[in-house]
Amino acid sequence: MTVALRTIEPIVVEVGLGQRSYGIVIGRNLLVSLGQRMKALRPGARAAIVTDETVAKHHLAAAEASLKAAGIPSISVHVPAGEGSKKIATFEDVCEALIAERIERDDLVVALGGGVIGDLAGFAAASVRRGLDFIQVPTTLLAQVDSSVGGKTGINSRHGKNLIGAFHQPILVIADTALLDTLPPREFRAGYAEMAKYGLLGDAAFFAWLEANWSDVFAGGAAREHAIAVSCRAKAAIVARDEREHGDRALLNLGHTFGHAFEAAAGFSQRLLHGEAVGLGMALAFAFSARRGLLPDSEVDRVVHHLATVGLPTHAAQIPGERASADQLMDLIAQDKKVKRGTLTFILARGIGSAFVAKDVDPAEVRAFLIEKLAVQ
Ligand code: NAD
Ligand code: GLY
Repeated sequence: MTVALRTIEPIVVEVGLGQRSYGIVIGRNLLVSLGQRMKALRPGARAAIVTDETVAKHHLAAAEASLKAAGIPSISVHVPAGEGSKKIATFEDVCEALIAERIERDDLVVALGGGVIGDLAGFAAASVRRGLDFIQVPTTLLAQVDSSVGGKTGINSRHGKNLIGAFHQPILVIADTALLDTLPPREFRAGYAEMAKYGLLGDAAFFAWLEANWSDVFAGGAAREHAIAVSCRAKAAIVARDEREHGDRALLNLGHTFGHAFEAAAGFSQRLLHGEAVGLGMALAFAFSARRGLLPDSEVDRVVHHLATVGLPTHAAQIPGERASADQLMDLIAQDKKVKRGTLTFILARGIGSAFVAKDVDPAEVRAFLIEKLAVQ
């Protein structure tokens, strides 16, 4: 008896931005289709793949083979792996390499990597020759559910994260979930924090689904693809109604104001990954909301319990190395671009799935909260 193999169609999520709309294609083993998908969108274009050294080892050959099979000439630019590459010097190297390779307006940049590569390559694409089109091929969970979607690109300044950059939307996102098979478990967990964020900020049912199904998401297969698609739909809807973050898009920063401060205090190092910082920041944002009487402690406990269950840090004391002080964190929070005219803007919550933008938060209240939290061993 012959058993027919079922072809599993990729899921396509549309980011609706008028003429700049694009699709996020989600599924297993999609990298092989990169060349054909690119050719369909930009026939005749050459490709400049920007990637990091770790991703290059695992996945560059497959990306190049797909382009070659579609008759697309390509070059590749490699940068060191990690957050340290989101800096001016590396940005300059990438831009110079694209120019030296004569990548022209009609050509395409392919960002093959995690959020660091997407942000860096996207910003280089936004800048070289006043703007090249680019395709995101996210290779971390974090990049598949968040950073590859929505057009925020950029690098860090010595004053803080993502302070130099541009809005520049990709023309296509290819989220091949098989690429996550080579991702270290710690990096997968860090990306999961951004996935849980969508439940916490606006979709209580999705958070409950994650509480019940998180281990299937980690294991791979249909649950992972479903959760990535739900996350991308949530982000696409927010980006479509507020591309430039004049309103609702700020909700996506849930956990980021506290998180960025801890991440900067840890020197943007392996001590605390970006996604881990977001997980910790979300636990703190919920605790701060409870302290303001916005939600019961039982909601905070549920958030902390789930994040801790998957192995994410939820207390500052879990960050290895020297403990940051409340004053140091307050200085870093003041540098954050969510600060307007000296008052603090935080994303707070009235419950799981009910986040809102709180403007004019008193810095003294945040400082007192941090002192309390930092005192816990
Ligand atoms: P990352 O890009 O540094 O990737 C994490 C590590 O995993 C790196 O060492 C990388 O080499 C490695 N890696 C990537 N893919 C791999 C794979 N498939 N197999 C094995 N190793 C792999 O970090 P990240 O967590 O993906 O992204 C974090 C960055 O994203 C931060 O700079 C953050 O500010 C940014 N970000 C941007 C947005 C946005 O909207 N633009 C949103 C969220 C986060
Ligand atoms: N990750 C935040 C945003 O894309 O707006």
